[in-house]
Amino acid sequence: MSSPRERIFAQVTPPESLESGAPGRFHIRTFGCQMNQHDAQKMANLLHHAGLAASERAESADVVVIHTCSIREKAEHRLYTELGILLARKRAEPGLVVGVGGCVAQQEGETLLRRFPKLDFVFGPQNLVHLPAMVRAARERERMLRVDYDDDAGTRFDLPERHPGYASPTPGRAFVTVMEGCDLFCSYCVVPRTRGREVSRPSAQILAEVRALADAGTSEVTLLGQTVNAYGRPRPGRVDGEIAFAELIRRVAEVPGIRRIRFTSPHPCFVTDELIEAFADVPALCPHLHLPVQSGSNRVLAEMSRRYDRETYLDIIARVRRARPGIAISTDLIVGYPTETAADFEDTLRLMDEIRFTDSYSFKYSERPGTPAQRHGLGELDDSEAQARLERVQDVQRELTLDAHRARVGQRVEVLVEGASRHGDGQLTGRCPQHRVVNFTAREPVALGSHIQVDITGCTPHSLLGAAAGDPG
Ligand code: SAH
Ligand code: SF4
Ligand code: F3S
Repeated sequence: MSSPRERIFAQVTPPESLESGAPGRFHIRTFGCQMNQHDAQKMANLLHHAGLAASERAESADVVVIHTCSIREKAEHRLYTELGILLARKRAEPGLVVGVGGCVAQQEGETLLRRFPKLDFVFGPQNLVHLPAMVRAARERERMLRVDYDDDAGTRFDLPERHPGYASPTPGRAFVTVMEGCDLFCSYCVVPRTRGREVSRPSAQILAEVRALADAGTSEVTLLGQTVNAYGRPRPGRVDGEIAFAELIRRVAEVPGIRRIRFTSPHPCFVTDELIEAFADVPALCPHLHLPVQSGSNRVLAEMSRRYDRETYLDIIARVRRARPGIAISTDLIVGYPTETAADFEDTLRLMDEIRFTDSYSFKYSERPGTPAQRHGLGELDDSEAQARLERVQDVQRELTLDAHRARVGQRVEVLVEGASRHGDGQLTGRCPQHRVVNFTAREPVALGSHIQVDITGCTPHSLLGAAAGDPG
């Protein structure tokens, strides 16, 4: 009998051959958040439209784009390591085209072109539409810099439809950009500088994209934006605030075929009563809220200019939980903010314990260029202390996650099937509505992108384990 892994792959249409007959092959190496991942998908689509084909490996591509993230110093450093290797390759392959995009490109701009004379082009997140033109110019030996800001909501989000040769990397699921940029300027954060001002995409364009995705078999959409729930908020002198975020969710939920809606990343100061109501009465809105809190200390939150305090955050979570019992709450945490005392850090641990997050992404504070914290010369906390705090947060979270997982054992959950489990043990994998990874066995063939019922029989700190409902145990 064939393994489940073979069976599911036997059931999906093999991706069209992208390797033959095209005038060039590209590879995009992406770091960073979901916004960056989605931008990489848009770039791949643009390059397909320009007649290039995708290459899975950078080594066999003649156009390579490093698509960077600048959120922490470590992320930025990865660019320099990769770029060094690529540009060295150019000595043997002078026709190789190398570009740098994303947030470090926006931040460093011309400096990158000056520092790396063999680098062909540099472009910021708002200029990805120019990628095919930059590749063409590079082939003519012209070097280009595109880091201008485009605040026109009409043109900026207007990208070509999905090229038939470009297979979606995630069957059944898709990202949809609803807004870009950030106007909040948290003290530590580089994003407002790299992604520019907050701009909302016209809702008609968003809904048209969701309809097209649903028609092509997508059942789960994740609405994306740096402060996604600021979508459409009215601001002086702007015309892009036509409907509010909660209303957008309702309209997306009405699109036939859409069974799951997620969004990331929301900011606590834009969690409105209407958004909380949507959790109560829009069944397609998944029972998961990822709401970054950063710190449990009111003093640190004020220093970070986060615009809420722990009491407000706790109140939001209590109301969301009343609206949708059983909802999973996850968060982002920064430890070792330069002025964070041991008592501030204890406040964060207490908050974790009070909320019992299902999951959290925790980071050591990293000083970033051009941020308010850097301008104030706050420096960084002693690294061994910051590291110890990070490990403590991660230990606490591991227990919380395991507890949350244990509470799910015995439940029947709906899983959107993503593929073979990465453990390579013949199991399949997918996510439940609460966004937990579910690894499961199935006796009958299961198609990628389908929704199936799974009985949860066990768990680890990383995933839920189970079997397709109806299978003999
Ligand atoms: N817009 C989202 C977060 C975007 S950045 C929000 O406001 O919540 C993703 C996460 O990276 C942040 O939530 C924060 O936890 C972390 N982060 C951002 N800047 C950082 C820095 N300078 N050092 C460490 N972590 C940082
Ligand atoms: Fe950065 Fe704050 Fe904007 Fe989030 S809200 S992107 S943390 S400045
Ligand atoms: Fe990184 Fe830019 Fe996203 S800095 S986290 S890729 S918005």
